[in-house]
Amino acid sequence: MKKIIAFAGSNSKQSINKQLATYAASLVENVETTVLDLNDFDLPLYGMDHENEHGIPKDAHRFLEMLKSTDGIILSLAEHNGAYSVVFKNLFDWMSRIEGKLFFKKPMLLMATSPGGRGGLSVLEIAKGRFPFHDGNIVESFSLPFFGENFKENKIVDNALDAQLKEAVNKLQNSL
Ligand SMILES: Cc1cc2nc3c(=O)[nH]c(=O)nc-3n(C[C@H](O)[C@H](O)[C@H](O)COP(=O)(O)O)c2cc1C
Repeated sequence: MKKIIAFAGSNSKQSINKQLATYAASLVENVETTVLDLNDFDLPLYGMDHENEHGIPKDAHRFLEMLKSTDGIILSLAEHNGAYSVVFKNLFDWMSRIEGKLFFKKPMLLMATSPGGRGGLSVLEIAKGRFPFHDGNIVESFSLPFFGENFKENKIVDNALDAQLKEAVNKLQNSL
């Protein structure tokens, strides 16, 4: 059976992006799904001096291995001041010190959501521009605006947005 991993670019316990990633993952059929939480990866703030003195933390290797061994990726990015959250950028930076091509061309559904009307579109655009340099293979992207209104009881309640997500999930499914 194919395997997918789903995670949010967030360390919030109530992460709305983790909720969205988990929902999207539940729509992928006939796969073994692992939902990851960045809180379970212990990574100091990246710094060159830290790397020189202590090396690369084992949890950066551990996350990279998860990316390497999966067949597909569902990632929903939290947007902080128009960009990646610190916790995601930190993980990204640490992993890039081990392997630049850290997404291994694995089919990826890339998403973002936020409480506001742009639904994390700024960070989504940044990631869409950057990930290909790291062998990111974004088969589809999706942004969910107004999370509080559009997502209830673990699913998207707006029919048009839900249909859009399901189409995006289908593209991922067909790429696995
Ligand atoms: C420091 C900070 C900056 C933020 N900047 C943005 C932003 O630029 N755009 C946006 O839509 N939401 C912004 N937000 C609100 C986040 O979208 C919101 O906290 C969301 O819940 C984050 O996703 P998460 O729950 O998955 O962590 C910001 C929140 C914080 C704490």
